[in-house]
Amino acid sequence: MTPARLLVEERLAGRSYRFFETIPSTMDAAREWLADEAPNGAIVIAGTQTAGRGRLGRQWHNAGRSALALSVILTLSAEALHQVPMLGGLVVYDTLHHLKVPGLVLKWPNDILVGTRKISGVLVETAWDGSRLTGAILGIGLNISGGFNSPDIVETAISLADVLETAPDYGAVLSTLVGRLDDWLPALGTPQMYHAWRGRLNTIGLRVRVESSAVFEGIAEDTTESGALLVRADDGQLRTVLAGDVRLRSV
Ligand code: BTN
Repeated sequence: MTPARLLVEERLAGRSYRFFETIPSTMDAAREWLADEAPNGAIVIAGTQTAGRGRLGRQWHNAGRSALALSVILTLSAEALHQVPMLGGLVVYDTLHHLKVPGLVLKWPNDILVGTRKISGVLVETAWDGSRLTGAILGIGLNISGGFNSPDIVETAISLADVLETAPDYGAVLSTLVGRLDDWLPALGTPQMYHAWRGRLNTIGLRVRVESSAVFEGIAEDTTESGALLVRADDGQLRTVLAGDVRLRSV
């Protein structure tokens, strides 16, 4: 089997990237490279992460070629920052759409599910020099094959190999994803990005349970241009959810 390093070399030739066979987290390596003047769009990619992290302080596991684990370094204006999670959601959603994954769901803010099980996650971190934004790091994890049948995650996680008759290999998934990154990166900071993300979001109109600083249920009515979710809570109040998790409920 071709090692991940060779597949990455083949698919990312001509780009600014750093590959690590094993690393704690691509987010930290990307942060170091950003401080060392990485170019916009540079990619840090790992075979295995030993301390991969997810949103809301969760862990993120991946090993070898069973999942993509990468971070994209973005040098951008503070005005465009709120669109980085949208960029992540769009890149992954369009990658999976291109690979003909059935039953795709983009759940606010940027979880990508197949049915009710998560196939990919997006994590955004920022870097500052005092009050000056120096950049953002867009982390993407995408499950390609195997390892999602253990009892603790069988209900919640899924991989490409579980949903496609012939799962594409690691190299093909990587080049599809960087192709979508090339498509969407120029739109960062424009209304086009917001509308594209909003158009793919499956959460609007559904009953949701919000788990953020407050926990409540209601109907997701809309989003704001900054990416917040507007939920009509059961007490009739329209509440703005800036961060957190939502669970989709059947109406
Ligand atoms: C989520 O909680 O849904 C986000 C998961 C993000 C995981 C990716 S894997 C590559 C990058 N490095 C990390 O440590 N996390 C992100």
